[in-house]
Amino acid sequence: MASTIYVLNGPNLNLLGKRQPEIYGRVTLADVEADCRRLGGELGFDVVFHQSNAEFQIIDWIHEARDGAAGLIINPAAFTHTSIAIHDALHTLECPIIEVHISNIHKREAFRHHSHVSSVATGTIVGCGTHGYLLALRQIAHLVASGTIGH
Ligand code: DQA
Repeated sequence: MASTIYVLNGPNLNLLGKRQPEIYGRVTLADVEADCRRLGGELGFDVVFHQSNAEFQIIDWIHEARDGAAGLIINPAAFTHTSIAIHDALHTLECPIIEVHISNIHKREAFRHHSHVSSVATGTIVGCGTHGYLLALRQIAHLVASGTIGH
């Protein structure tokens, strides 16, 4: 389990590639998953990759990651801006957490500027497209290799 990285995705990200491609691009979530598994393997990690439109499901996966995950990458999508429950769940983790947003939320509508997740994340990656997930994997691998535990 210590060599497992969780990658969690929130609502509407199942439509990645089809939904507002001018903002989110044409890469699908299946492509992102394949890229994460490939890079995770190269870096020596198993990748657990999930997407849900349901807040409770994301919270349950965060709780599952408490059982020894090396790190957790999360794109909570719209829950970023609304969910104190996801904030609280992330707070219970001891492993590094990287928050990823495909778009630059700070350049967009004001309601996207606040994140309930950033204050409990080790780091955030925004506006790097789907490449942000790979940057996040590399960052967790770096934190693990350098012996940094927790956030
Ligand atoms: C997003 C940004 C959020 O504001 C939005 O609700 C999403 C995707 C991103 O990856 O850029 O669904 O998290």
